[in-house]
Amino acid sequence: MPGSRFTDVRRFESVDSTNRYLLDEARSGAPEGVVAVAAHQTAGRGRLGRRWEAPPGANLLASVLLRPDLAPGQRHLASAVVALAAADAVAEVTGSRPGIKWPNDLLAADGRKLAGVLAEADATGATATGATATGATASGPTRGAAAPRGGLRPPVVVGIGINVNWPTTDGDVPVELAGTATSLLRLTGRVTDVDLLLGVLLDALEPRVADLASPGGRARQADDLRGGCVTLGTTVRVELAGGSFEGRATDLTPDGHLVVEVAGTRRTVVAGDVVHVRPGA
Ligand code: BTN
Repeated sequence: MPGSRFTDVRRFESVDSTNRYLLDEARSGAPEGVVAVAAHQTAGRGRLGRRWEAPPGANLLASVLLRPDLAPGQRHLASAVVALAAADAVAEVTGSRPGIKWPNDLLAADGRKLAGVLAEADATGATATGATATGATASGPTRGAAAPRGGLRPPVVVGIGINVNWPTTDGDVPVELAGTATSLLRLTGRVTDVDLLLGVLLDALEPRVADLASPGGRARQADDLRGGCVTLGTTVRVELAGGSFEGRATDLTPDGHLVVEVAGTRRTVVAGDVVHVRPGA
C-alpha cells in the first residue's frame, strides 16, 4: 500500500520468536513499521508465559514494531489495532468476521480460538533490557508518550499468531487444547496463502495505527473494538495474579480496558486473563 509504514518486512525460515527479534531491533533504534514474519518459531511466545506452537509454514506468525504516541495507560489500544486489523484480514479472506475476546483473542463463530496477540514493551523505554507484557501496569496519565532519545518514542512490539492452515483436526493439538482451537482451514475447508493474509492485514493495520495519533482516531478504534468485542454482555471470570472474580462484562473504557460489574460495582480490568463463563442473556 503506497505510504504505508509497514514496508520493511523481514522474513525468517526459522527464528526463536519474532517478538524477541523485534524487541532487540527496537533497542538498537529500529523505527516504527518494521515487520518480522517467520515460517517457524522455535520458542514462540504466548500470553502469560505460555508457548505458541505451530508446524513450519502452516500459520501466520508475525510481529510489528510500533512507537505509538500513547500514554502508558493507553497502550492496550496498540495491541487492539493489531487484533482489529487481523479481524479485518480474516473477514476479507474468508467472508466471515471473527469476534474479539478481551483482551485480544480472535474467536470464530463457534467460540474457538483463531488467533492470539502478544504485546511486549520495554519496561523503561527504548534503552531497557527487560521486556514486560503491556497492560501489566495500571492506567497512567493520558498525555502522549515522550520521545526520549533520537526522536524515537518507546517501542511496543505486537505479535500475532493466526491459525491459518493448522490445526486441521482436534487431533492435531495437545489434548488440553482440543475443542478450543480452530483454523481458517477448518472454517473454510480450503488452504489460505499465509503471505497474502499478511499483506491484507498490514494494509488494514496502516490506517488503524495512524488513528492512534489523535483523540478522534483513538475514539474510532475504541469504538471498533467495542463493536467487535464478543466478551461484552457475557459473564466472565477474571483471573489476576492475586486471585479471580466473576461478574458481567458491560463495556470497554476509551482506552480499551474491560469494565466488569460485580454486585453493582464497576471494576476496570487493565490486564488479566478472562474466561467466558456464560454467554450474554
Ligand atoms: C496468545 O497467547 O494468545 C498470544 C500468542 C501470540 C503468538 C505470536 S506468533 C508471532 C509472535 N511471536 C511470538 O513469539 N509470539 C507472537
